[in-house]
Amino acid sequence: MLRPALSIGLVSATVLLGGVTLAGSASAEPGPAPAQSQAVKYPADSLRALGDRIGLRIGTAVNTDELGSNADYTRITAEQFSTVTPENVMKWQLVEPNRGTYDWAAADRLVAFAKKNKQLVRGHTLVWHSQLPTWLSSDGYTTTLSNDELKALLKKHIQDQVKHFRGDIWQWDVVNEAFDDDGQPRQDIWYKAWGGLGYIADAFRWAHEADPKALLFYNDYNLEFTGPKSNAVYDLVKTLKAQRVPIDGVGFQGHLDTQYGFPDLQNNLQRFADLGLKVAETEVDVRTFTQAPPNENTPTSPLAAYAQESYWSRALQACLAVRECISFTPWGFADTYSWIPGWFDDPQEGAALFYDGNLQPKSQYYVLQQDLALAAGAPHRSGPGAGRH
Ligand code: XIL
Repeated sequence: MLRPALSIGLVSATVLLGGVTLAGSASAEPGPAPAQSQAVKYPADSLRALGDRIGLRIGTAVNTDELGSNADYTRITAEQFSTVTPENVMKWQLVEPNRGTYDWAAADRLVAFAKKNKQLVRGHTLVWHSQLPTWLSSDGYTTTLSNDELKALLKKHIQDQVKHFRGDIWQWDVVNEAFDDDGQPRQDIWYKAWGGLGYIADAFRWAHEADPKALLFYNDYNLEFTGPKSNAVYDLVKTLKAQRVPIDGVGFQGHLDTQYGFPDLQNNLQRFADLGLKVAETEVDVRTFTQAPPNENTPTSPLAAYAQESYWSRALQACLAVRECISFTPWGFADTYSWIPGWFDDPQEGAALFYDGNLQPKSQYYVLQQDLALAAGAPHRSGPGAGRH
């Protein structure tokens, strides 16, 4: 087999030339805008353009502090992606920091950006134990509020938020991370208030009432690995379907790490899809050690980058192979803004995305580009969001 760097370089150069010719938008030459365009322009070799050809949306989590203020960040967000997810600004902590007062400003800006750039929005997230406002809970597991109060608050939160964005959200992550790592229901404030997992069905029903057209997702990490957690979520969503709860899909976060073996991702996507659900990869990143004891390889050695290229490629190909996998969303694109170094620091991990600190594409970018460029034979996605844009 050819070394990845060589073959990728060649494919990339070819596709890039195509981009200049076909789209006319990769050129830096000044001059009048082409007369024809009412459509948004993006390079023919961009991830979004390549995904278009099989109806697969390619997404990114967006840091709204950078959007608008950082020209390169903003341009890449518009050019490379056909769906965006707010990394933080739709979370309860951010939209209702003070009880009874909503702040939608940052999320509204992202929705407006997405419309302007013909992107769809993944809403993230309505029900979670984390990033709650402190007036509600400081840790997600304890609260001073009564069970009845919590039930009324969650209903109002879902109704108000979904109505605020009604018509503007393609997929909602209605419930996030309801199971712990062993596949046991997470004993958070919602579980305790309902005395079980009943809050999940209620949440989906309330969200559906507020925006019947949005696709409603359950979203979690480590579903990629066959095991107790993936099985528990599988049983849950199967039961929800049987009870006619309006759930449309399951999001596989896909926070991958080169120190663990690559998961059984395609089979897991497929078995959830076989329940009659859409699936999506919603928060993909591939972290690796960025500091290591002396004499061990670090990611500055090519070895870690090769492993990361392989993980990115396999993660994308798993989605490509499953017709019901409607979007592939990395959790950001640039290492500079990745959440990984701040969360996984003992030992220190990072380098989890595919643009470097100067917002230049890394080898991992070209792997994704190449896989999409070669995917003309993958099944074409169907349903809302799958068309050209
Ligand atoms: C992370 C964000 O990236 C960070 O900026 C924030 O400090 C913590 O949350 N699973 C999820 C995401 O569903 O919302 C998390 O995002 C990452 C893990």
